[in-house]
Amino acid sequence: MDYQVVVLAAGQGRRMGAGENKVLLDLAGAPVIVHTLRVFETDPSCKGIVLVTRGDEQDQFHELIDKYRITKVRTFAKGGSERQESVRLGLEAVKLAPDDIVLIHDGARPFITRESITRVAKAAAEYGASLLAVPVKDTIKQATGLKVERTLERKSLWAAQTPQAFRLSVIQEAHQKSVETQFMGTDDVSLVERLEMPVQIVEGSYRNIKLTTPEDLVIAQLFIEREEE
Ligand code: CTP
Ligand code: MG
Repeated sequence: MDYQVVVLAAGQGRRMGAGENKVLLDLAGAPVIVHTLRVFETDPSCKGIVLVTRGDEQDQFHELIDKYRITKVRTFAKGGSERQESVRLGLEAVKLAPDDIVLIHDGARPFITRESITRVAKAAAEYGASLLAVPVKDTIKQATGLKVERTLERKSLWAAQTPQAFRLSVIQEAHQKSVETQFMGTDDVSLVERLEMPVQIVEGSYRNIKLTTPEDLVIAQLFIEREEE
């Protein structure tokens, strides 16, 4: 299933606390974002990458794309202050027919595999919207402040990942509606859920972590060392 992908790299990486955008941090000899882009670069079904960056970092990303010979990033988009805004601006730069498939992926998830990408893209073609997710391992409490209200039934809980995949018309309509209603979601399929359109889960891998806090970098390093063994 052919697709184009919007890769998000316009965050600040505040929780990483590294004093710079976390996707530019070194991971085993190359910046995190390069690891992520390489997966799409080497996937024959990927027909183009829209890279969303902050305006003041665009030159830096341009240099990386040249240095590491990433050829599929043909479009750069300027991100917004919130992730959802960055996605919307990235989608505006996508040139596809309404029924074509677009993926949205966090630049900070370098361990995505081509196999998972293929499955989530196929599900989007069939259902309109899909996401990679893994069963939640922890017991999740709902609380008001620190007062427990209830325990959610773990069997029904999934931890959402990216890529999330869509027929272009579906995610465009979802974004348009969210602008109108000023809805802010923490992921992309939540915008489609609000339209009461189907969203299909594709079971992913626990390795597809998002590098968020410093300990995630330690884990990422270990994953790479293991691969090299
Ligand atoms: N992102 C983006 N534009 C934003 C915010 C986030 O493109 N305004 C991107 C990040 O670069 C990252 C992905 O969305 O690849 C997931 O977001 P998150 O993990 O929250 O990254 P940051 O926002 O950079 O980190 P933090 O929230 O800790 O500041
Ligand atoms: Mg963030």
